[in-house]
Amino acid sequence: MPSSSNAEIFRWHRYSTISELEAAAVQAIQQAAQQAISHRGQFHIVLAGGTTPRRIYQAMRSADADWSAWHIYFGDERCLPVDHTERNSRMAALTWLDHVAIPRGQIHPIPAEKGPEAAAADYTRTLSGIEQFDLVLLGLGEDGHTASLFPGQDPGNTPDAPAALAVHDAPKPPAERVSLSANRLGAARKVIFLVTGESKRQAVTDWRNGENIPAAAITPAGGADIYLEAGLLGGSEP
Ligand code: 6PG
Repeated sequence: MPSSSNAEIFRWHRYSTISELEAAAVQAIQQAAQQAISHRGQFHIVLAGGTTPRRIYQAMRSADADWSAWHIYFGDERCLPVDHTERNSRMAALTWLDHVAIPRGQIHPIPAEKGPEAAAADYTRTLSGIEQFDLVLLGLGEDGHTASLFPGQDPGNTPDAPAALAVHDAPKPPAERVSLSANRLGAARKVIFLVTGESKRQAVTDWRNGENIPAAAITPAGGADIYLEAGLLGGSEP
């Protein structure tokens, strides 16, 4: 059973199938956008990398949205050339962003091709004008990492942490990355983790047992929602 503080911060949403989880995520993204745009005229969203969000991004192509009010950021990026097939920004562009009318100046890729330190410094400046994201999407790695915050490395979960961190020696290739800090990722009105795949079972178990995995360092004031494939919960856990 999760610890009491764990249960207060993390809300676990179980879905019988990956398709149901993806549909729920698309709905949540659209709801967050409509709310932000009606209240503030803009929607600032941070995209997750990896493979889990791919079909969600593809489904977002056909969303009925006021794209002119959307501002896109990235939770992390691999230090690869801009058009490298393994770039998170390229995955998002091919599956979604190249197919909708978000003004190009409102899509803010992490300039990770500059290398970890230079890109982290640049992106920290880019984010300086954004106090709170409206929505942050995150994945979960097999070892409990999220974005490019890996076990044994500084998650940047103190108020003085820079918004973007240079990452070296990442256990998930490539070794050099840039990641938003845990503190910056948690400065959001809504945070949704997207967790599918048998390989995530142990990380989910550790998380729910209150272990200090990097994902657990993302503690937004309003708590975080974890969209989870129900099969990843062992036994008949509540
Ligand atoms: C990355 C991602 C990373 C990812 C998890 C889950 O750049 O690799 O940002 O944090 O979200 O590793 O990856 P999958 O979705 O591919 O399982």
